[in-house]
Amino acid sequence: MKALVSFCCALVVFSIFQSNAQPKKVKPVTDKTEAKIQTLMKQLTLEEKISMLHANGIFSAGGVQRLNIPQIMTDDGPLGVREDVKEGWGSANLTTDSATFFPNGSALAATWNPELAFRYGHDMGEEARARGKNVMLAPAFNICRVPLCGRTYEYYSEDPFLNARLAVQSVKGIQSQHVAACVKHFAVNNQEIERGRISVDVDERALREIYLPAFKAGITEGGAWTIMSAYNKLRGVYCSENDYLLDQVLKGEWKFKGMVISDWGGTHSTVGAANHGLDLEMGSRPPYNTYFFADKLLDSVKAGKVSEKVIDEKVHRILWVLYHTDMSDNLPAGKLNTPEHSKTVYDIAAESIVLLKNDRNLLPLKTAGIKSIAVIGDNATHTFHLGGFGAGVKARYEITALQGLQNRLGKTVELKYAQGYSAVYRPFGKNQRTETAKPDSGLVAEAIATAKSSDMAILFIGGNRDYESESRDRKTLDLPFSEQVLVDSVTAVNPNTIVVVVGGAPYDIGKIKQNNHTIVWSWYNGSENGNALADVLLGKINPSGKLPFTFPASIKDSPAIAMDAYPGKDLHEEYTEGILVGYRWFDTKKIEPLYCFGYGLSYTSFKYAGLTVAKKLFKPTETITATLKVKNTGKYAGKETVQLYVSKAESKIQRADKELKAFKKVNIPVGQTATVTVTLNIPVKDLAYYDVDSHSWKVEPGEYTLQAGTSSRDIKQSVVVTVL
Ligand code: BGC
Repeated sequence: MKALVSFCCALVVFSIFQSNAQPKKVKPVTDKTEAKIQTLMKQLTLEEKISMLHANGIFSAGGVQRLNIPQIMTDDGPLGVREDVKEGWGSANLTTDSATFFPNGSALAATWNPELAFRYGHDMGEEARARGKNVMLAPAFNICRVPLCGRTYEYYSEDPFLNARLAVQSVKGIQSQHVAACVKHFAVNNQEIERGRISVDVDERALREIYLPAFKAGITEGGAWTIMSAYNKLRGVYCSENDYLLDQVLKGEWKFKGMVISDWGGTHSTVGAANHGLDLEMGSRPPYNTYFFADKLLDSVKAGKVSEKVIDEKVHRILWVLYHTDMSDNLPAGKLNTPEHSKTVYDIAAESIVLLKNDRNLLPLKTAGIKSIAVIGDNATHTFHLGGFGAGVKARYEITALQGLQNRLGKTVELKYAQGYSAVYRPFGKNQRTETAKPDSGLVAEAIATAKSSDMAILFIGGNRDYESESRDRKTLDLPFSEQVLVDSVTAVNPNTIVVVVGGAPYDIGKIKQNNHTIVWSWYNGSENGNALADVLLGKINPSGKLPFTFPASIKDSPAIAMDAYPGKDLHEEYTEGILVGYRWFDTKKIEPLYCFGYGLSYTSFKYAGLTVAKKLFKPTETITATLKVKNTGKYAGKETVQLYVSKAESKIQRADKELKAFKKVNIPVGQTATVTVTLNIPVKDLAYYDVDSHSWKVEPGEYTLQAGTSSRDIKQSVVVTVL
């Protein structure tokens, strides 16, 4: 698609992407449907209603055969529709449940491309439909507050605006297939340590400005039909029974009509949860009649502690979701493992890869004259569809990095593989093995010999899905498996060494940044991983990924760590950094990161010019429209994500140095006059801060500086506007 083809003299005008990638509109539940819901409700006995409110299998719930009410059939999750399992989580050993493996959440975020988020959702929705699921437990987009969080790879980014734009489209995509999206984990599930017991004591402004916006957008703009309550507590109350979160904010302010699903085993009471917003209790261990929302709920209704009205409201919500999904008209049949799905995976992977350093212009690889390449590192042959604890996919196929290179170069270049390091990692159970293992000298020696005897070397290092996992946080940002020793050893014997780091979260690659000239960042990039990676290295794809989170130079610089506000004390964690999360912290405190938010190079170069606004004075009800010209000044066609940040110098409240308020990814052809005019819209109401005293959003009058940049720290153009 993004072949490095020359075009000249193109002037294209793009309009802003404001979260509407033109999905098929999902029909609202009509009055007729409401009448049908009411008719069904009248026929249901209290026992039948309660049977609809709790799990009856690891991923299933409810269903009333007598009235043809289907079960709720859920499935994970962000990486694709997971394999079917039987009680105890063992494989159901089906031959029909292999699926497409989609790139992980931070990979999708690194594309900065909401249209790809829609395609991701759409295709996963088709697969869910084909597999008979009506609720996909995705997307997951808790804010990346601490880079060590084990689920960083599943989530999107450290920025609420980027998260929101992607969440809205993922939701719309999934639901276009009459499958409910389940946005998760609501809310402030920002670490895995003590996730089942910790209380997050976050101030209201940070909650509203940083942690809730993507959920709000997923519900009010994306129209998500279900949401998953998080394991943790918010201000001392479990999220699954948190009246403020579920009843006041979600169902009250945001007018959420769908159902709240507990995280698996994340319900802690019958009366509290029933009366404070939870609709469906899920969990993975039988006997299911012992669940809080099973026999105990029936008893509580009989004892008058939970009213039948409350039960009816929950049943109504479940039927409402079913009328959008399995009981809807024109139910699509779904599709599994299609070439279109593979293409979506390829496109996401291709746009997610981030070029971190290319000082010698070694990339794109010029293979003329190259007879042999040493392909070194376990991650060249590792697959990422499974591993660790939590969501995985039984992938129909996954192209590894080595296979990708073989597919593209196998006939012309000798590829010599050496494993380099052992990636065995067992964080759970007996015989645990941790990241402190010593380098395997035999593997390193073999790698050195392979690199020495080759024209060039490509090293594949980083994490894997065992190392980054649900239910545990990493202890450090260090590269695991003594990889640094391997990098140093190989680089010392072959000056033409390219380092490809694969991971879903920030790592400390400071030494590599200092010593190596060519660095590429890749992700757990789905079924087409190796093909996309090879095409980026070879220049068929010009890299356009931008980092969705800050890479700190040291973990001590990271806000929650610097404030000693992680992982909590006595099961409480005060988010004392407040609104200063991610780049907001680094920029405000003037701390130099290793790589900043939004960073990513290209094989070409871009010049920004002429940031202008049509007028300078705005009322709070208006929208600021800014335009600027981006010129491709290099040798290759390429995509660039223009990022627009906003600052307010003089303010009566605390402000972050700058905040992302708009972005636009554009394809710019090559050629002397190849210029693209980018239009970015910011509704003035999006400049509001959350005023804790009045419990409302307020736009402060005065001057705001709009800053257009290639990253959060490479601002090219700025312009000042005044809000009246
Ligand atoms: C995770 C959820 C997941 C559920 C079912 C929980 O442990 O937190 O994200 O959907 O398991 O697999």
